[in-house]
Amino acid sequence: MRPAVKPVAARHSGGGRFARVSVMAEVIIKDLKKVYDNDVVAVHDVNLHIKDKEFIVLVGPSGCGKSTTLRMVAGLEDISGGELYIDGVLVNDIAPKDRDIAMVFQSYALYPHMNVYDNMAFALALRRVPQDQIDKKVREVAEILGITQYLERKPKALSGGQRQRVAIGRAMVRDPKVFLMDEPLSNLDAKLRNQMRAEIIKLRQRINTTFMYVTHDQTEAMTLGDRIVIMKDGVVNQIGTPEDLFDRPVNLFVAGFIGTPIMNFFEGCKLLLEDGVYYAQIHDAKFKLDEFQQNALKQNGQKACDVVCGIRPCHVTVGEGELTAKVEVNEMLGSEVNLHTVCDGDEVIMVIPTMNLNVDVSMGTEIKFSTQPRLIQLFDKETGNNLIWYDKESVEANAPVCKTYNF
Ligand SMILES: Nc1ncnc2c1ncn2[C@@H]1O[C@H](COP(=O)(O)OP(=O)(O)OP(=O)(O)O)[C@@H](O)[C@H]1O
Ligand SMILES: [Mg+2]
Repeated sequence: MRPAVKPVAARHSGGGRFARVSVMAEVIIKDLKKVYDNDVVAVHDVNLHIKDKEFIVLVGPSGCGKSTTLRMVAGLEDISGGELYIDGVLVNDIAPKDRDIAMVFQSYALYPHMNVYDNMAFALALRRVPQDQIDKKVREVAEILGITQYLERKPKALSGGQRQRVAIGRAMVRDPKVFLMDEPLSNLDAKLRNQMRAEIIKLRQRINTTFMYVTHDQTEAMTLGDRIVIMKDGVVNQIGTPEDLFDRPVNLFVAGFIGTPIMNFFEGCKLLLEDGVYYAQIHDAKFKLDEFQQNALKQNGQKACDVVCGIRPCHVTVGEGELTAKVEVNEMLGSEVNLHTVCDGDEVIMVIPTMNLNVDVSMGTEIKFSTQPRLIQLFDKETGNNLIWYDKESVEANAPVCKTYNF
């Protein structure tokens, strides 16, 4: 059984990115700001254009303003500045109940004295929806979430994951235009969280609504989001697809937040410019950068400077190479081995597929390693900004640092 499917909106065709087209639940956030009474600026001028049916994830460390942003969209928090449009309507001063949104919180509280059916029916009954429609909707949603067999049970007779599904179901019965979720999985244990993550991916395919999902877990962000908004101290640092954030992090913060194990950072590196050619110097090794990197740096008029070089653990090869490291810990995971090594004072983690491993990597050994120059990220030592980074979308959204390249 499926819920009434809304017609898929016309996608943006040409014209400006903010051109009005007939859409169902586009959310446009312009210069959104939140200053709490104690003068804490929790959210600084956030700009975000969420497309109809898009799954957007807000991610960032504790206190960065994710919940505040979501609560402003929900109408649970006053907006201190900026504009918020849902489906083309300015909703800054519209009450939460009239915004056509539904929110699921981390600490969802089901009504303990009501059974699952009544928990799900409650919001509709309050709105005086006719009984036959309530029944149809509750059964439809229960079917989608696989909780039909529990409809008569009280919450205390359910597992954590089942209760979580009821909480989601309670929001779903209202057929919201926009589904807001604030860390809905964070009080589940790791195994259940993985299961529910997969459930949410399936759910999303079935209910076809616009989602804003908050988490501090980068794996959740990477696996769920069509696009990810990564925040720090109330400021959006980057907006992009999981690939954008993984391959082209805007700065050291994003590079260190996204990806597991985290990116290796090499201190004391230099960007060299010799006879018009750029090189990255990592300790005693010199890597000639590839053509794209050369062009980007040239176009930007980049001078030689001190840099922090970043190399992802999965982008390291061992056996031969310009760099040397000592293996401190060797974690055999079956299909791959994680090596925790030290290279001239820098901790370097390497993830090596076991089938590519043909050298001794036991603890205490010295190994040679290398990477492809195009996989080296170059961060300005002073600002932490990536020297080679381009993204038109974040330029429009006022993310703090961005450059675009024309080739
Ligand atoms: N009611 C409030 N009054 C004053 N300051 C607040 C209030 N609520 C939140 N803050 C502050 O605003 C900032 C952002 O808080 P917010 O709850 O949005 O963070 P978050 O990113 O959701 O963090 P977490 O991952 O811990 O849930 C924090 O510095 C927090 O202390
Ligand atoms: Mg929060």
